[in-house]
Amino acid sequence: MALFHCFSVSSSTSLFLLIHIALLSTLSLAADPTVSYDFKLSYITVSPLGVPQKVIAVNGQFPGPLVNATTNNNVVINVRNDLDENLLMTWPGIQMRRNSWQDGVLGTNCPIPPNWDWTYSFQLKDQIGSFFYYPSLNLQRASGGFGPFVINNRAIIQIPFAQPDGDFVLLIGDWYTRNHSALRADLDSGKDLGMPDGVLINGKGPYRYNTTLVPDGLPYETIKVDPGKTYRFRVHNVGTSTSLNFRIQGHNLLLVETEGHYTVQQNFSSFDIHVGQSCSFLVTMDQNATSDYYIVASARFVNESLWQKVTGVGILQYSNSKGSATGPLPEAPSDIYNQWSAMNQPKAIRQNTTASGARPNPQGSFHYGSINVTDTYILRSLPPSTIDGKLRATLNGISFVNPDTPMRLADLNQVKGSYKLDFPSEPLNRPLRRDTSVINATYKGFIEVILQNNDTKMQSFHMNGYSFFVVGMDWGIWSENSRGSYNKWDSISRCTIEDYFSSRDFLHSFLGYLLSAYSSAVYPGGWTAVLASLDNVGIWNLRVENLDRWYLGQETYMKITNPEENGETEMAPPDNVLFCGALASKQKDLGHKDSAGSILQGNPNLFFTVLMAVCAAVLVFS
Ligand SMILES: *[C@@H]1O[C@H](CO)[C@@H](O)[C@H](O)[C@H]1NC(C)=O
Ligand SMILES: *[C@@H]1O[C@H](CO)[C@@H](O)[C@H](O)[C@H]1NC(C)=O
Ligand SMILES: *[C@@H]1O[C@H](CO)[C@@H](O)[C@H](O)[C@H]1NC(C)=O
Ligand SMILES: *[C@@H]1O[C@H](CO)[C@@H](O)[C@H](O)[C@H]1NC(C)=O
Ligand SMILES: *[C@@H]1O[C@H](CO)[C@@H](O)[C@H](O)[C@H]1NC(C)=O
Ligand SMILES: *[C@@H]1O[C@H](CO)[C@@H](O)[C@H](O)[C@H]1NC(C)=O
Ligand SMILES: *[C@@H]1O[C@H](CO)[C@@H](O)[C@H](O)[C@H]1NC(C)=O
Ligand SMILES: *[C@@H]1O[C@H](CO)[C@@H](O)[C@H](O)[C@H]1NC(C)=O
Ligand SMILES: *[C@@H]1O[C@H](CO)[C@@H](O)[C@H](O)[C@H]1NC(C)=O
Ligand SMILES: *[C@@H]1O[C@H](CO)[C@@H](O)[C@H](O)[C@H]1NC(C)=O
Repeated sequence: MALFHCFSVSSSTSLFLLIHIALLSTLSLAADPTVSYDFKLSYITVSPLGVPQKVIAVNGQFPGPLVNATTNNNVVINVRNDLDENLLMTWPGIQMRRNSWQDGVLGTNCPIPPNWDWTYSFQLKDQIGSFFYYPSLNLQRASGGFGPFVINNRAIIQIPFAQPDGDFVLLIGDWYTRNHSALRADLDSGKDLGMPDGVLINGKGPYRYNTTLVPDGLPYETIKVDPGKTYRFRVHNVGTSTSLNFRIQGHNLLLVETEGHYTVQQNFSSFDIHVGQSCSFLVTMDQNATSDYYIVASARFVNESLWQKVTGVGILQYSNSKGSATGPLPEAPSDIYNQWSAMNQPKAIRQNTTASGARPNPQGSFHYGSINVTDTYILRSLPPSTIDGKLRATLNGISFVNPDTPMRLADLNQVKGSYKLDFPSEPLNRPLRRDTSVINATYKGFIEVILQNNDTKMQSFHMNGYSFFVVGMDWGIWSENSRGSYNKWDSISRCTIEDYFSSRDFLHSFLGYLLSAYSSAVYPGGWTAVLASLDNVGIWNLRVENLDRWYLGQETYMKITNPEENGETEMAPPDNVLFCGALASKQKDLGHKDSAGSILQGNPNLFFTVLMAVCAAVLVFS
């Protein structure tokens, strides 16, 4: 049964449990409720950093509204594209089971043209946690369109901490006052994006903590709390490419979740959140409210004196606060040139093996450490360089070119040559190239992926359709001996992992930045090793989350096909599937309205509709 894929390889006790739960859940499947949303993406003008600019709003809100769902819910989101360009919405971390048709990336989905509607429809199988959605094309995320996506535990499954007194979402990210098309033009002309103009917190600029650095009159985020209470903060780095250090003055951050897996609970005074990553912290309001407190998201691994303005500042305000926040911000970690210490934090994140996640079984039931690896892929990223006269970024020497016809659609309609299944399993000694080259992965394989960062920047990698175990990371070049250092017991399972560059490389890139040119890295970078069980059929995107590198081609796909017809094969394309490329002539003009909506209207009893909160960017429920 697809739902409980993780257990097929674990002990016989779990297997028994598995069958038991599978039966129970089969019985309840038909009753899984549906949550529905209407999303209209359009431009609105706001001035988060004091400069009026058009940003991408969802239903007029920037950031977009919350998708609030529960394990096993069906989710239906009708997306209206009122932008002036093609659109695809992607839901990273949501593991579409056998259903890459809803994934919202160009390799598997035709884009939604301007003035069209398209309805996404998928089930949240076997998942909990904090995620965010965003538009996946053309650097659009740099102009907004993002919003939080929460999957709550089912009522029968206890969360591994006391129910918090409230829940806040903080979307933090670097920000440019240039819009995504201007940023695109920079990359197209071979330029680096350069230093961002600031960091936004929930779409707002910094609180005026320093009158020299921050202009007057910027909107800023205020989180209102009661003394003595404990709140859950879901913090997401929705930015373009900057790793951020998150901290709240005078308060501990108790890390409890990273992207859908409960962690061993640990206090941090500040925490690094890399592009694309999501974390939940419990924060207890245990201070005396002599004043408000700063909430800070500052650029990491940079020279603070040059990057001062790239700092997001919000306010934590107790209901009995005696005054506004004053004085300097709480200090950032001082180890920017100490590579060893910077990696200690992610290495300390452990899965709570006894906590239940989406299932009643403990998260540790899947004994990944005892499974033999079937294939190893070493994926090396290099700094951008020129291929065919254009600036491109590569993985294993290949800069990905999106197919004109999405790959599975091409397969099903006998369109040949849309892509190649020849992505190399390690870097090859051959010239860099542009290609639509995909990994031919083995269904039910248990793969080891080494992300070898030879780029000059910190990178985050993301795999759609899967979460993976982060078993090791270190500086230098990965070798077979590195396996000795893997955590085979309680590694965290994530869907987005950072890949460190060495700080010496950083110094080079930093100098390179000042000189507006890259110096090719000479020193070794860092690597991260992840393990993944390939039980989800489809074609799944594997990419760097840093938008500039992604735009320049640092991505590929994994094709996972089940050769047997045993119910574990891919879902058929949905009725409303869009056609493009070689299949464009099959596309019917549906009056700019797709057909999925009518299916929904036909069965009103099965569904209930969640009305969207007017401002879901900041959520409080108690
Ligand atoms: C983006 O910026 C460019 C250059 O400043 C401008 O020409 C274009 O109209 C802007 N697009 C939007 C949607 O604001
Ligand atoms: C999200 O959904 C859960 C479960 O239905 C509900 O308890 C909670 O109040 C909702 N949160 C918001 C902000 O709507
Ligand atoms: C792990 O989860 C269990 C079960 O919910 C919980 O009781 C325990 O406090 C958690 N342990 C840590 C260290 O987070
Ligand atoms: C504000 O920032 C400037 C520039 O870094 C610094 O020189 C000054 O001391 C700061 N002012 C305060 C009050 O901290
Ligand atoms: C974390 O810090 C809070 C105080 O802010 C404290 O009450 C709690 O016991 C600490 N938890 C752990 C696991 O260290
Ligand atoms: C409140 O806390 C601040 C900082 O910890 C401390 O300086 C101050 O004395 C405290 N005030 C009271 C009334 O406890
Ligand atoms: C940061 O930049 C400033 C200004 O260019 C420079 O003086 C300082 O030495 C740099 N600090 C480090 C640690 O490199
Ligand atoms: C893993 O491989 C080893 C050596 O090839 C073999 O002895 C062992 O049985 C395998 N384990 C599993 C669970 O397949
Ligand atoms: C992909 O892998 C499968 C199984 O290993 C193999 O049978 C098939 O020939 C491969 N396809 C290509 C195009 O290499
Ligand atoms: C990084 O790339 C350079 C040049 O391509 C190479 O000399 C160096 O060995 C690479 N380092 C790593 C860690 O891959």
